[in-house]
Amino acid sequence: MGKLALAAKITHVPSMYLSELDGPHKGCRQAAIDGHKEIGRRCRELGVDTIVVFDTHWLVNSGYHVNCAPEFEGVYTSNELPHFIKNMPYAYHGNPQLGQLLADAATEAGVHTRAHDATTLALEYGTLVPMRYMNPDQHFKVVSVSALCTVHNLADSAKLGAAMRRAVEEQYDGTVAFFASGSLSHRFAQNGVADQFLHKVWSPFLETMDHEVVEMWKRGDWKTFCAMLPEYADKCHGEGFMHDTAMLLGALGWDQYTGQAEIVTPYFGSSGTGQINVILPV
Ligand SMILES: [Fe+2]
Repeated sequence: MGKLALAAKITHVPSMYLSELDGPHKGCRQAAIDGHKEIGRRCRELGVDTIVVFDTHWLVNSGYHVNCAPEFEGVYTSNELPHFIKNMPYAYHGNPQLGQLLADAATEAGVHTRAHDATTLALEYGTLVPMRYMNPDQHFKVVSVSALCTVHNLADSAKLGAAMRRAVEEQYDGTVAFFASGSLSHRFAQNGVADQFLHKVWSPFLETMDHEVVEMWKRGDWKTFCAMLPEYADKCHGEGFMHDTAMLLGALGWDQYTGQAEIVTPYFGSSGTGQINVILPV
């Protein structure tokens, strides 16, 4: 029936927003912005109607959650980096029907997931930043899934991703993209030296690990990556404990997946964290 047409692991660094504005950082994240525009272009070409974002900025302490409000509109300021993203207006259409399907499918697979449509829940910037560059004309509907999962098992997140793909293919009449919105290593620069690390990764250890991981992704060696994901997420401070990545890989077949990552925006350091835009062939 329906189709998962595109899968990607994407950045959402707030310096992309700074990069737009006049000032010392103007243009500094153009490569990441261009990457998002390219992914948006591919989604249009593939006839995607709805983008589902596994958002590592949506913190949840119990269960899994889907924000599938019919409309999202507001002016966003980040509470963690209010000097980076402030007063950013946004407006996107939601997809309550798809959100409900996704949550029901995950729950039926044994991963209890709640869909929220009649809600005042706002979107987090793991969703808002990519949508700013991919979806300025509200072409795509947007559904957001909680992926900063504080007390959750990565295996459950993988199961959720697999169930959500099945729901799209078996029950949804349309075409969907899944994005894991989060970084590779994610150790923010220590307070006081943030400026020195604006375009750098926090340590050689983290940067080396990230490069190794990207090479695995390019080779399609997901068997190795899935086996090391829990330890990588822990030791390299994975954003949202990398539940976004587990969800996306679950949708793609987990350690049986063999797709070779296509680099859209090459790896870069940002405020100490390791970032990338890659498309994972479905
Ligand atoms: Fe983030």
